[in-house]
Amino acid sequence: MKKFCTGILLLGLLFTVLQSGAQDKKKETAKCLECHKKVNENPFVHKPSGRSCLTCHESNGKPHPSDKAEGFKLTEKLPALCYQCHDDMSEGKSVHPPVKRGFCLDCHEVHSSKNQKLTFAASPEVCFFCHSELEKKADNSGHVHSAIREGNSCLTCHSPHMASQPRLLQAEEKELCLQCHDKVIRKDSLGFRNIKKELEINRFIHGAIEKNGCSGCHDPHAATDSKLLKAAFPQGTYVNAKDKQNVALCFKCHDPALLEKKTTTLTSFRNGEQNLHFKHTYKFKGRNCTNCHGIHAGPNQFMLLDEVKFGNWMMPLKYTRTEQGGSCITACHAVKSYARTIQ
Ligand code: HEC
Ligand code: HEC
Ligand code: HEC
Ligand code: HEC
Ligand code: HEC
Ligand code: HEC
Ligand code: HEC
Ligand code: HEC
Ligand code: HEC
Ligand code: HEC
Repeated sequence: MKKFCTGILLLGLLFTVLQSGAQDKKKETAKCLECHKKVNENPFVHKPSGRSCLTCHESNGKPHPSDKAEGFKLTEKLPALCYQCHDDMSEGKSVHPPVKRGFCLDCHEVHSSKNQKLTFAASPEVCFFCHSELEKKADNSGHVHSAIREGNSCLTCHSPHMASQPRLLQAEEKELCLQCHDKVIRKDSLGFRNIKKELEINRFIHGAIEKNGCSGCHDPHAATDSKLLKAAFPQGTYVNAKDKQNVALCFKCHDPALLEKKTTTLTSFRNGEQNLHFKHTYKFKGRNCTNCHGIHAGPNQFMLLDEVKFGNWMMPLKYTRTEQGGSCITACHAVKSYARTIQ
């Protein structure tokens, strides 16, 4: 019984001490604010700054204010100070260098801010402050992805601190892109196809997507080439692959020897040693790859298509694969067949 009473007494005492401690801090903070009103003046106030200055500042014994000496020091160095109350952000598959170095104040105000989440500017400006090359690119490229400026801008795709995906990505790249590209997007007078559906209804998906997601071909931010492509690729029916630069995109990953005139190894699209890729593409008004192949996906092996756009017309393409080659009927020609080994 005696022990219990002492316990109660001690607890009571502790409470009183804490109470008066809190009262002291409140009074002290009110005093600080008489001279430092500005620190908490912005609409978004950091909770501890609204409560007590002494959580993070402590007197170093010198008079304050004074011309010579600084009267206050931080109770703890950065970023340890922040990690007293916030989860550690310095570990992860990708960690943003300023976060790794503990430079929280490169992006955040610590007392109060005009912006949510205490950033010194809203996104994308807070990002462009250091990533100015990207801002220049967005200003100067003919094709800019609106996602980098609209809505949550950079934060739609990137975490500002750290992530379990490379490049600080919020989710696996393909999933990230398909969050928006899961429908036909209409913008001004333009329409953009539903890519998620394209990948769902077709049996054969481009290995580029399986292996590298979408950024093997598209720049997610901005590009000189149309469709945000990282290298040249023609729109429309025709291509002249004599200048391989015209189809540079495909040859970022595929061997340009695919278009050698004669071969018995470089492509299976050949008649004997006559390369049918060469024949179709290597001339003025050569056929664009998209006349036969889907780019993201296709219903047949090698993403070969059943119909292709020709002007305003969807032209049927009847391709049949055989052990030694194949045959094809289109509106351009009656049945034509090829065989890799000519008997
Ligand atoms: C009588 C006015 C006054 C009061 C009260 C006051 N300050 Fe200051 N404080 C100043 C002036 C003046 C400066 C120097 C000019 C400046 O940096 O803004 C200063 C500078 C500071 C600085 C930056 C320089 C340094 O010493 O590290 C901190 C931090 C600071 N004050 C914290 C506090 C805290 C915390 C309190 C309350 C416990 C407080 N001040 C109370 C007037 C005051
Ligand atoms: C969550 C921790 C934290 C709290 C709470 C806090 N501060 Fe600070 N304060 C900092 C840090 C960190 C710095 C930056 C120190 C540096 O740049 O070296 C700073 C800097 C300052 C400065 C000098 C630079 C400036 O921004 O003007 C003043 C003055 C100041 N604080 C006053 C206050 C006052 C007054 C309060 C209470 C109303 C307060 N602080 C509450 C963390 C805090
Ligand atoms: C004493 C505890 C404490 C310390 C130390 C502290 N914070 Fe906080 N911080 C909080 C609390 C509490 C909140 C409010 C959380 C909420 O509302 O969910 C917060 C919120 C924030 C927010 C988000 C604001 C918002 O609107 O959600 C940021 C950014 C932040 N802190 C940054 C920092 C940084 C940077 C430091 C180190 C300089 C730091 N904090 C130190 C307690 C602390
Ligand atoms: C490169 C800029 C940048 C740096 C450096 C940075 N932050 Fe942030 N932080 C942000 C942005 C932007 C947000 C808002 C995120 C959002 O709205 O989704 C944010 C949000 C927060 C939040 C709110 C909760 C959350 O996670 O969304 C906290 C807490 C926070 N930061 C703490 C810190 C701490 C602690 C550090 C230093 C270790 C730090 N930040 C470094 C940009 C930064
Ligand atoms: C204080 C400077 C600074 C600010 C502000 C800043 N960054 Fe960075 N960021 C860097 C540095 C340094 C690197 C590493 C070098 C590089 O890639 O440019 C980097 C790299 C990155 C990377 C590549 C990471 C990787 O793993 O390859 C991404 C993505 C990124 N930042 C996004 C952002 C976003 C989003 C914002 C705004 C919320 C932002 N940054 C704001 C300094 C900054
Ligand atoms: C639609 C999603 C998306 C948006 C929005 C976005 N990014 Fe990225 N970002 C990516 C992807 C995916 C990568 C990695 C692929 C690559 O490097 O091409 C990347 C890479 C980066 C890199 C690494 C270097 C580089 O250029 O490859 C930086 C830095 C970066 N982004 C900053 C930003 C900034 C700053 C913003 C806002 C202005 C932003 N990103 C908006 C998806 C996005
Ligand atoms: C926040 C929604 C959103 C996300 C996430 C998104 N996009 Fe987009 N995307 C759009 C919109 C809206 C358009 C329509 C054109 C425009 O506004 O830029 C578009 C257009 C495009 C275009 C056609 C551009 C043109 O000018 O022809 C490509 C290619 C593209 N996105 C690729 C991607 C890739 C790759 C990713 C993932 C890294 C991605 N998108 C993630 C919203 C998004
Ligand atoms: C092998 C390269 C390659 C990869 C990988 C790739 N694309 Fe494309 N994408 C293209 C080409 C080439 C075009 C332009 C020709 C066309 O529209 O088919 C295009 C067009 C687009 C368009 C514009 C469609 C329209 O109707 O204008 C969007 C949106 C798009 N891609 C999104 C994506 C997304 C999302 C991914 C990842 C799931 C992705 N792409 C992966 C090459 C690629
Ligand atoms: C980012 C790299 C990349 C780019 C760019 C690229 N591809 Fe591919 N492509 C692949 C990968 C990976 C495969 C899977 C087969 C392999 O590993 O060689 C593949 C397979 C194919 C196939 C099917 C062949 C097979 O073996 O299944 C065709 C057809 C094809 N690509 C056409 C194109 C065309 C047309 C372009 C240009 C618009 C292009 N590719 C651009 C990486 C790429
Ligand atoms: C006239 C239709 C047609 C055109 C145009 C065409 N291809 Fe093909 N391609 C095929 C056929 C058919 C096959 C499959 C041949 C087989 O396996 O019998 C094929 C196969 C491929 C393969 C798989 C490897 C191989 O060659 O066996 C790649 C990669 C490829 N094409 C890329 C391209 C690229 C890049 C372009 C544009 C420069 C292109 N194709 C243009 C019909 C075409």
